[in-house]
Amino acid sequence: MSGVQITDKVYWIGKVDDREVPFHRLILKKGTTYNSYLLKTEKPTIVDTVDIIYGREYLENVSKIVNPADIQFIVINHVEPDHAGALPALAAKAPNAKIVCTEEAVSLLKDMFKLHQREFITVKDGDTLDIGGKTLRFLKTPFLHTEETMMTYEPEDGILFSCDVFSTHIASHEVFNDLAKINYIEKFNGYYTTIMAPHRPYIRKMLEKIKDLKVNVIGPSHGYILRDNAQKFISMYDEMSNIGEMGKEKKVVIIYSTMTGNTTKIADRIAKGMEDLGITPQVFNMKNADKDEVKNSIHECDGLLAGSSTKYADTVGEVEAFLKSLEGETFKGKFAAAFGSYGWSGEAVIHVEEQLEQLGFDIINQRYLIKVLGIDTPLFPLRIRFLREEELDRAEDSGRVFAEQVLTH
Ligand code: FEO
Repeated sequence: MSGVQITDKVYWIGKVDDREVPFHRLILKKGTTYNSYLLKTEKPTIVDTVDIIYGREYLENVSKIVNPADIQFIVINHVEPDHAGALPALAAKAPNAKIVCTEEAVSLLKDMFKLHQREFITVKDGDTLDIGGKTLRFLKTPFLHTEETMMTYEPEDGILFSCDVFSTHIASHEVFNDLAKINYIEKFNGYYTTIMAPHRPYIRKMLEKIKDLKVNVIGPSHGYILRDNAQKFISMYDEMSNIGEMGKEKKVVIIYSTMTGNTTKIADRIAKGMEDLGITPQVFNMKNADKDEVKNSIHECDGLLAGSSTKYADTVGEVEAFLKSLEGETFKGKFAAAFGSYGWSGEAVIHVEEQLEQLGFDIINQRYLIKVLGIDTPLFPLRIRFLREEELDRAEDSGRVFAEQVLTH
């Protein structure tokens, strides 16, 4: 297939990959598609490319419907190689094309593909671009599912080029959802669960951003182009990402020991972050807490945060002894993370995290954040030096991220 017409001047020029495709530590047994789009306007424009391994075939197909030298813009919504992979091959044959992407994507593309000499157009949220007969509007959608991602909206036809969002991993030669020969809804939902659900708060922001757009067609980066009842798929994302009053049913406990009061302030800000998601944690300063009450609360909770400030490279107060008293009990299936203030090296937080791990909690730490959420900000274990305001903002972020994991598992 070299091109499939979507509307008057808009074409699908993607690749159906029906191999077993390794992807995000999954094997896509039924393959996938890499959806690329051509808007054959007065200033021909391409939105996203295909996987790096299909670069040559892709260029041959593009050349059948447009002279690459005429291409004026190449929009890159997302830099992962399944969509930006054929960019260097395309850019080499399209020397007049400017590359359009977010600021966060520019340096990634330049470094990945040695495109330092190319002209880039860096777009901000809501920016528009006249492509000669049609307009493109860019919507930043960070962390859907990486930081630099955006969507591109074409209002004349009401097409939302939605990047990985609203995708389905399926090698669909039929291209459009109304031509599907199988029931693909389960796969559409499965994609949401595996790729998008960890980024649920960003899904909510994206839905808010697109709620007033006229969307007739969703052109995602994988799977069917959703031209039959596009709004249904937006509503499905709304339903799947809506946690409603779920926060009231979840229980989180925060325990801590503090030397000067700084760790108390961190605990308060973590709690504030959780309250944004509807969870009101039980907070115990272990200096004067009833230990039996704390123990009962931990057994009933969905998540535990344990904190200590550091003194002489060690924990302070009673947190460590209390956690030791829990040895032999079962905490599997409950999330836990460590936090605390420090002045020099902050070892107490590490000691606390090790205890939580030994007790069998599911630990949220940097390894978890990177592996599951793609977050490289050091939110957990949360070590805050003295008490700078911007650091306390990080404590609120930590609270929100912890609450999010409790709510969605
Ligand atoms: Fe389909 Fe995030 O790449």
